[in-house]
Amino acid sequence: MELHVREMRHEETSLVIDYFHSSTPEHLEMLGVDPTRLPPRDVWGSLFKSLYGLPLAERRGFYLIWLADGRPIGFSSCDKIVFGTQANMHLHVTEPAQRQRGVGEKCVRQSVDIYFQMLEIKQLFCEPNAFNVGPNRTLQRAGFKYVKTHMTVPGPLNFHQAVNRWLIERRV
Ligand SMILES: CC(C)(COP(=O)(O)OP(=O)(O)OC[C@H]1O[C@@H](n2cnc3c(N)ncnc32)[C@H](O)[C@@H]1OP(=O)(O)O)[C@@H](O)C(=O)NCCC(=O)NCCS
Repeated sequence: MELHVREMRHEETSLVIDYFHSSTPEHLEMLGVDPTRLPPRDVWGSLFKSLYGLPLAERRGFYLIWLADGRPIGFSSCDKIVFGTQANMHLHVTEPAQRQRGVGEKCVRQSVDIYFQMLEIKQLFCEPNAFNVGPNRTLQRAGFKYVKTHMTVPGPLNFHQAVNRWLIERRV
């Protein structure tokens, strides 16, 4: 299986919307996502249209697609972007059958390289729910260092929760 990570095209962003809207309440709970905070599909589509209309340095979010033999199997995104300084990443293998087979670690490594290069950042953070074992193990495997565990509302889709902060730093 050949894995490839590249910038997500605007026409591919339905992958993100479909993933969250078709997730079970249990899966969203594990992610720390409050289902009532998901934007309706049409609103989310409009948000993506606005996002992709902006130059990279002005975007509040940046999306990568994970491909296995050319087929989408997951995605990663960054938010809280301070261009040239830091960003927060997210990671999802959207096909349950492809999880725990090494895809996440490899695609996270490729995603990290792209984020450092394209966003020109020095620090990349990731803050998964502290009780969600998959991303916490994967981030450590992919070279992130554990910083701390704390309570927060990580983003606009999330409820208040314990998260682990992971970090990769690179000097340019
Ligand atoms: C998190 C995720 C992207 C990781 O991708 P993956 O392809 O499953 O991960 P890998 O197969 O590369 O595994 C990397 C490490 O994590 C471990 N791991 C992954 N999922 C695990 C799970 N559910 N339980 C225990 N360990 C797990 C693997 O065993 C491996 O560790 P090891 O080599 O020391 O054994 C994927 O599981 C996923 O999409 N999960 C659901 C969405 C999610 O939770 N996203 C995080 C939101 S912050």
